Amino acid sequence: MNFTDQQVVAGQSAEQPGPAAAAGVAVVTGGNRGIGAAIVRRLVHDGFRVAATSRLGTEAPAGALAVPMEVTDGQSVSAAFERIHQELGQVSVLVANAGITKDTLLMRMSEEDFAGVLDVNLGGAFRCAKAAAKPMMRARSGRIILISSVVALYGSAGQVNYTSSKAAMIGMARSLTRELGGRGITANVVAPGFINTSMTAQIDPAAQEKYLGAIPSGRFAEPEEVAGVVAFLAGPDASYISGAVIPVDGGLGMGHEG
Ligand SMILES: NC(=O)c1ccc[n+]([C@@H]2O[C@H](COP(=O)([O-])OP(=O)(O)OC[C@H]3O[C@@H](n4cnc5c(N)ncnc54)[C@H](OP(=O)(O)O)[C@@H]3O)[C@@H](O)[C@H]2O)c1
Repeated sequence: MNFTDQQVVAGQSAEQPGPAAAAGVAVVTGGNRGIGAAIVRRLVHDGFRVAATSRLGTEAPAGALAVPMEVTDGQSVSAAFERIHQELGQVSVLVANAGITKDTLLMRMSEEDFAGVLDVNLGGAFRCAKAAAKPMMRARSGRIILISSVVALYGSAGQVNYTSSKAAMIGMARSLTRELGGRGITANVVAPGFINTSMTAQIDPAAQEKYLGAIPSGRFAEPEEVAGVVAFLAGPDASYISGAVIPVDGGLGMGHEG
């Protein structure tokens, strides 16, 4: 899709943007579906010019620019950021949301199962943070938001690869905070619990029932409930929050947060 300023404005007015209109340029990786798409819709609503990336880059929520980006490929990440810069302007918010699971027990987990999940979830966040930090350092302002998971610190049998990648995001955000905090850049982690998306639809119904029993709120969440927290971290009210891990899990991870 070719994207013009007029299309951004048309998308925004249809969505009735909030008070933060013209808030800046946001990149949401994995913004075509699931939690990422809800974040894109919310940031468009809040007045951001938003790029929604995915592997093919053929679909994006209304009002956002669809951009192809393979997060395991540094050249693809650079090309996507270059295009976003050209078409929307200097990136001020990164939401590193693209992620995969490849669940199996430790004894059955291959090197490829482990490294592949690390490369998408953690390597992807690293490549995107590096690309986004350049314009942010120049502007002496920026927001980096990493989408982790409740299981990062809670642990999860059958997810040694996934939990390792998600736990490492916390160290990444805190190191980014220490490295870039003095340049007006914040880096935070959002740790969702069980959210209704295609990722969790793969979990067998018996396991879903077991999770449900452990969640104090007694329900799974909708992607929009994660998007609201991301929008807060991207907005003006979160200017002094950095290195934080914010759970959106109905209480599932209580006592295990970093
Ligand atoms: N759902 C939950 O309950 C839950 C809970 C905690 C944390 N999370 C985290 O939240 C994030 C979003 O989850 P979701 O449930 O919305 O997942 P989803 O519906 O499965 O969507 C995953 C997204 O990641 C993108 N992606 C995957 N591999 C990629 C790659 N190699 N390069 C570029 N993009 C890639 C996908 O793009 P394509 O369309 O191109 O494949 C898609 O947009 C993930 O990081 C996940 O770990 C989810």
